[in-house]
Amino acid sequence: MNFNRKFPLTRLRRTRSKPGLRSMVAEVNLSVDDLIQPIFIKENLTGTENIDSMPEIKRFGLDVLNKEIDELVSLGIKSVAVFPVIEESKKDAAGLEALNENNFLTKAIKQIKEAFPELIVIVDVALDPYTTHGHDGVLDSNDDVDNDASLLTLKEQALVLAKAGADVIAPSDMMDGRIKLIREALEDNNYKNIVILSYAAKYSSKFYGPFKDAVESAKFFGNKTKDTYQMAVSNINEALQEVAMDIEEGADIVMVKPGLPFLDVLKAVKDEFKMPTFVYQVSGEYSMLKAAIERGWLSKEVMKESLISFKRAGADCILTYSAKEIAREL
Ligand code: PBG
Repeated sequence: MNFNRKFPLTRLRRTRSKPGLRSMVAEVNLSVDDLIQPIFIKENLTGTENIDSMPEIKRFGLDVLNKEIDELVSLGIKSVAVFPVIEESKKDAAGLEALNENNFLTKAIKQIKEAFPELIVIVDVALDPYTTHGHDGVLDSNDDVDNDASLLTLKEQALVLAKAGADVIAPSDMMDGRIKLIREALEDNNYKNIVILSYAAKYSSKFYGPFKDAVESAKFFGNKTKDTYQMAVSNINEALQEVAMDIEEGADIVMVKPGLPFLDVLKAVKDEFKMPTFVYQVSGEYSMLKAAIERGWLSKEVMKESLISFKRAGADCILTYSAKEIAREL
């Protein structure tokens, strides 16, 4: 750093004085390549449904899914993360429907990849859409999530998703050791180019609230927490350990989640590991901005501002519910 620059030889306002200059000195730029659109799909739904706590976001039936994706692709979006809402009758304590090769999500993946072979399809590895208790794994006799027992199901789930044609599988369950097990299983089964996007530093955050509404899991999950497997919001050194282990275990991309409240973690992860690093602007972040925009308390530019902040902090790509809307502006 040069600390010797002095006024008026230096006027930092010079390069701010014209729009052209401002864009020429921009340190980061947001482009459509930075945006991943999460999409909610619902089994046995025809058409779409609104989500009360997520303005402008919908659940899609498979009958209208391709039309939506077609719009995203024509806006230049290159990737979607698909989250399924599974029929209640198919849920059980073990989340076994996750291992059904003809389940709703595998059907959706096949449908999407057939129509849009170039689109990068990301899917979560976690059992919460499939369990009656709403946890990401299976439970032990104390109703805590059993790490090693959960791993066995998660590994099989990853293979089912790879077989269905997912490009990127994203373990979001926060079990210890899952990346290694999944990576070895993928190698052993000749899925050598399936990318693992690890939700490496995933916090036990209340900012996921609207997501539970979106995937209709609130009534299954009740007022429990995921505190025994997702990270405590107080910790950043532990996040670096999580990321280090996931990289050693074979993750290709690491992710920090939520985004804005954990910008320090995002920056630390990028600076420390120089890995492809994604961030998830989660449902609560999206909805609080949208709610304030709807009331006229904030102008709509705040959404883009928070996405640019992710870029500045080191994110290579952003999962955001605003991807479609921002892609339209860009
Ligand atoms: C499921 C999962 C969650 C989110 C993504 N995958 C919820 C959770 O872990 O409780 C949250 C996404 C969001 O809030 O936008 N494992």
